[in-house]
Amino acid sequence: MTVSLCGRKVFVRTFGCQMNENDSEHIAGVLLRAGAVRTDRPESADVVIVNTCAVRRKSEEKLYSYLGRLSRLKRKRPFVLGVAGCVAQVRKADLLTKLPFVDVVVGPDGYPDLPELVVRAAEAPEVRTELGPVWREIGAEATARENPWSAFVPVMEGCDNYCAYCIVPFSRGREKFRPLANILAEVRAAAAAGALEIQLLGQNVNAYRDPGSGLGFAGLLDAVAAVPGPAWIRFITSHPKSFGDDIVRAMAASPKVCRALHLPLQSGSTPVLGRMNRGYTCEGYLGLVARLKESVPGTLLTTDIIVGFPGETEDDFQRTCDVLREVRYAGIFSFRYSPRPLTAAADIPDDIPLEVKRRRLVELQALQKTIQVEANRAFVGRDLRVLATGPSPKGAGRFSGRTEGNLVVNFDAPTDPTGRFLTVRITGSGPYSLHGTAV
Ligand code: SAH
Ligand code: SF4
Ligand code: F3S
Repeated sequence: MTVSLCGRKVFVRTFGCQMNENDSEHIAGVLLRAGAVRTDRPESADVVIVNTCAVRRKSEEKLYSYLGRLSRLKRKRPFVLGVAGCVAQVRKADLLTKLPFVDVVVGPDGYPDLPELVVRAAEAPEVRTELGPVWREIGAEATARENPWSAFVPVMEGCDNYCAYCIVPFSRGREKFRPLANILAEVRAAAAAGALEIQLLGQNVNAYRDPGSGLGFAGLLDAVAAVPGPAWIRFITSHPKSFGDDIVRAMAASPKVCRALHLPLQSGSTPVLGRMNRGYTCEGYLGLVARLKESVPGTLLTTDIIVGFPGETEDDFQRTCDVLREVRYAGIFSFRYSPRPLTAAADIPDDIPLEVKRRRLVELQALQKTIQVEANRAFVGRDLRVLATGPSPKGAGRFSGRTEGNLVVNFDAPTDPTGRFLTVRITGSGPYSLHGTAV
């Protein structure tokens, strides 16, 4: 059925990871193609879609307080309110019981049907949360990109790893791979539209296998690097378990593949990793890091850490701190463990007291901060290539950008360089960014 949303104003708000940011570009794209127009304020919208994240308890709590605000707005001025993404997929129709002011609940595989769902929901609430067995192709033509110079390109979705703490296999379903030809077509289209950077996306990108030819992630990287145009290729997120030496070689072989890798560790204690069902040991992880540093020199690593997983002893926690000292990550994302519904760990007692989790997180972040202060200082005096991403929150004449290693740089420039490469002379550094002047 083709439906028209002619002239209806849509507002899309995104919580969560890059996969969700890209899905929001699909959501907006599908609605705009049906005739809707964008608005940047929920106050003036006819349709509001909230794309949600379920990964930690806090992510879900943030969502409910935001939805509370929307319900007050809706009392003043009616609109169709849709909840999309991972919370929608996991909570399903229960969301309508809990939040009667919601009109549409739609999981990731339902986005192509959004125009129809929105129109029908104006009459009665709609729930669409079946997960299909194969890749749902939305296509480049229905992607309303946030900006033309950096393009997200999804390559796989879902996850079969079932880490004990993680809700993603339930919110995104089983692993599904996008056909290579469609990925390359989207990369070419993004290149033609001026993309300087391609970010390949998936919950577990390095598990990639082309459904037709069986070509793996290393082959995919080679194929994407062969598309003329984009200067930088990134990919997120990689799992240490399936990060083969062929991928290390593919990184080393192409200067277009950024010397940056997000490689979630979660814990530096092998027994904790075992209970988390991560599929590698601490030694195995460190071996991979050593091979990477040798074959692709200068690679900046980032990671994810969970503190306070059930049974984590002080000694386990210190092992994690040891890994931070050894690897010297350029950045970390660190979280206190929170039990999530449907996961294996939800059945074991969450036995680390909140105070202990808090203290471990503070200690870990303080350690990492000293590492970053030192590491970032080493860039002072150097000229770095930067992709400018927009004005800096710091004020007039200042802009922000990212380096190949994904470090944030704030800099002065005479004219707005947003969406272009430039060289910045680094004059100073802090724990979380570098600063300098365009040369
Ligand atoms: N696919 C990626 C990331 C998934 S979610 C991966 O495999 O690493 C992003 C991060 O959230 C995870 O790496 C983990 O550090 C954190 N996380 C996931 N579930 C969590 C939970 N129940 N409690 C705390 N942190 C969690
Ligand atoms: Fe979650 Fe583990 Fe899959 Fe990452 S690899 S999405 S942490 S289950
Ligand atoms: Fe969150 Fe879903 Fe991403 S749970 S981290 S938005 S895959």
